[in-house]
Amino acid sequence: MAAVAAATHVGKGKRQFLSLWAKAFSIPCRHRQKKNWATTRPRLSATRLALQNFDMNYSVQFGSLWPSIRISLLSEQKYGALFNNFSDIQQISQELECLNAVDFIWESQKVVQDLNSTAGQEASESAVSTRAVPPESQPQPLPCLSTLISSNIKCYTFPKGDISLFPPARPDALGILGYYLLDAASVLPVLALNVQPGDLVLDLCAAPGGKTLALLQTGCCRELAANDVSVSRTGRLNRVLSSYIPKNLCEIVRITSWDGRKWGDLEANTYDRVLVDVPCTTDRHSLMEEDNNIFQNMRKGERQMLPMLQLELLVAGILAAKPGGEVVYSTCSLSQLQNEYVAERAVELLNIQYNIDVRVEDLNIFRRLFQDTFSFFPSCRLGELVLPHLTSNFGPLYFCKLRRLG
Ligand SMILES: C[S@@+](CC[C@H](N)C(=O)[O-])C[C@H]1O[C@@H](n2cnc3c(N)ncnc32)[C@H](O)[C@@H]1O
Repeated sequence: MAAVAAATHVGKGKRQFLSLWAKAFSIPCRHRQKKNWATTRPRLSATRLALQNFDMNYSVQFGSLWPSIRISLLSEQKYGALFNNFSDIQQISQELECLNAVDFIWESQKVVQDLNSTAGQEASESAVSTRAVPPESQPQPLPCLSTLISSNIKCYTFPKGDISLFPPARPDALGILGYYLLDAASVLPVLALNVQPGDLVLDLCAAPGGKTLALLQTGCCRELAANDVSVSRTGRLNRVLSSYIPKNLCEIVRITSWDGRKWGDLEANTYDRVLVDVPCTTDRHSLMEEDNNIFQNMRKGERQMLPMLQLELLVAGILAAKPGGEVVYSTCSLSQLQNEYVAERAVELLNIQYNIDVRVEDLNIFRRLFQDTFSFFPSCRLGELVLPHLTSNFGPLYFCKLRRLG
């Protein structure tokens, strides 16, 4: 009995010692499990991964501008109200003006007048001056606004620094909504397309339809082909159009759900104007929303293939344009790889593979016209880029205009 008791005592002592040792030096069980988690590293959320990716790339691309762009991207964005010319115009303009919002496109007319009167003054001063100024270095007057940008589009915004919000639009007596809320910068590619009366227009990636709606506001499209590969998104496009456009006008719109990359084979040399508003990393969305975020782990392949898809869509859009036709390429990303590089590669590829010359048009005038509303990146090699800024938190929005020559 004594031997058994002693053995039990030793066993108890050993157990106590082991337990003390474990407490002092070993990792408690619950932490040991954590070590196991650590071997399968917790996954970063898509928004976090997007921020890491942008910090790495955009701090190099934008240098000292990046902190300001970054904080703006992470702050609440500003909206514009695209005015619907097919609704009760008087009631809607009164409503928007009561809010102290202004039509930024109308305001740019004043910029043209100011620039022209300065140019006129400088020209007359140089005429009386004893020093002769060669005509090419004299400031040239700007042509009328309607020859530079698509006409009849109105978009209301609050002034710089004003972060008021627009109330949701209400239907008029005929059930048509008075304005469409969107990032005001996304009207710029449509303005740059400079649609002329009677034009045949293609909107290659059209859903959910903000830019299609802006194209229709011009009243210039003889026919508008609005396409988007996604059937569910063309459903949304249909709903947007039926809320804003009277039935008889919907007849000029042809909605399809084809792969835009095939357009060069389907309808080559056909359109006067083509808008190629491609899928991209949608930088603002990617930082704010987990849902449908292209930085989700399972969408890595899709993300890496974006510049290739964008290039194929732009090439197809240019092939669909008539010789002499104009094409605007746009994204809502800051990425040079998705912006300038795609435009450059498309020009090269069309020349080498199709023997088609394409000219990149100068859009510098946009910076002068709309600098009171947007903050533009000053050093874009091709096209223009609207940078998010706390005082005018629109964008990012890149747009580049290409003219098919042959
Ligand atoms: C940036 S969104 C277009 C936004 C639209 N332009 C607007 O203003 O409301 C890009 C669109 O491209 C579409 N898309 C993606 N791949 C496509 C393809 N191969 N052909 C046509 N559309 C495509 C997507 O479904 C998405 O709706």
